[in-house]
Amino acid sequence: MFTLRHITILSAILALFACSEPVPEPAKQTTAKTTAVEKATSQNATSITTKATAEPQSDIQKALSNAPVITNLSASHPNTLSTPNINDLDNSPESDLIRYGRLLVIDTYRQLPENVNNKLNCSSCHLNEGRVANAAPYVGMNVVYPKFRSRNAKINTIEDRINGCFQRSMNGQPLITDSTQMQAMVSYMNFLSQDIKTKDDLKSNNGFIAINKDLEPNAENGKTLYAQHCASCHQMDAKGLYPNGTYMFPAVAGGNSFNDGAGMARTYTAAAFIKGNMPLGQEGILTDQEAVDIAFYFSHLARPAFAAKANDWPEGGAPKDVRR
Ligand code: HEC
Ligand code: HEC
Repeated sequence: MFTLRHITILSAILALFACSEPVPEPAKQTTAKTTAVEKATSQNATSITTKATAEPQSDIQKALSNAPVITNLSASHPNTLSTPNINDLDNSPESDLIRYGRLLVIDTYRQLPENVNNKLNCSSCHLNEGRVANAAPYVGMNVVYPKFRSRNAKINTIEDRINGCFQRSMNGQPLITDSTQMQAMVSYMNFLSQDIKTKDDLKSNNGFIAINKDLEPNAENGKTLYAQHCASCHQMDAKGLYPNGTYMFPAVAGGNSFNDGAGMARTYTAAAFIKGNMPLGQEGILTDQEAVDIAFYFSHLARPAFAAKANDWPEGGAPKDVRR
């Protein structure tokens, strides 16, 4: 069953096939204080005018000007929230930092190869640049964090939460908290959150939709339904599709996917995500039971192990779908 949006998505994919994307230079983690721009502005005016063309671009500007064309497959997601427009930003360093943060969340595994050990972008799950209701949007993170989480039994800052996704969802390494890259992502989230002043403004758009956690998964049925609703894009082996090394359909299992300590590796978290967002272009067609069956099936396929998950929920109370 093909809807108009489904066709739009498939033609975007064909267009993606047609163009090859330049591979960007990997970013080294740097602290914000040492950018070439700031070095230049701290020098006196005459040396700037004579040295301007010789000054190397800052890491941020280099990354932005080398940014590949990125086809955003979830661009037309119907639950996209209305957020400030990034194209309205001026040319200030603050705006460049926001633009850089956006680039990092939509082109993550290529921009940050030292921190990502799979082939996912943040926006593989935080759809349409982190702006989709019920796909854990970044809109409103300013009022959600800092927050107590029972998984590590402490107050988590937004940086802690982002690094949690680096270690689990990206199967990688955390960023240094005051690195330019971390500051850029937080700046981007704050930019999206400009209109959110209190928790009431979130209007339950954040996180995922609710799913009935009393439903018991049926793995056999999940496998059949996966073949029917998911394999056309994510492939029968669930390892996604990366033609000529480009990103097309992200891996939902195997070495290029999230590890078994990730939220998406938990049956009911994955079920809530797919019920609200998959199959892309036909969101909302799955019942709770179907979502739970499919989620159990793909989340339990072979994937990287997160050794430190044994330390999770140090004070007990782990939900029943947590992997041990
Ligand atoms: C494999 C899917 C996946 C990927 C990739 C991923 N995340 Fe997440 N992220 C999740 C899940 C699942 C949650 C928990 C959502 C929930 O339970 O409401 C989450 C939560 C978050 C939250 C908190 C949201 C909230 O409402 O409290 C932030 C912030 C976040 N992720 C940032 C990132 C960043 C930045 C990246 C890339 C470096 C990233 N994530 C990559 C799946 C992912
Ligand atoms: C029309 C193609 C299509 C279909 C069908 C589809 N997906 Fe997706 N899915 C995508 C794309 C594309 C993304 C990433 C979106 C982006 O990067 O903007 C995605 C993201 C995901 C993610 C988060 C990223 C990751 O790799 O872990 C999961 C999990 C997922 N899909 C599961 C499913 C399941 C389960 C089904 C079947 C119920 C399904 N999808 C059906 C295209 C599809």
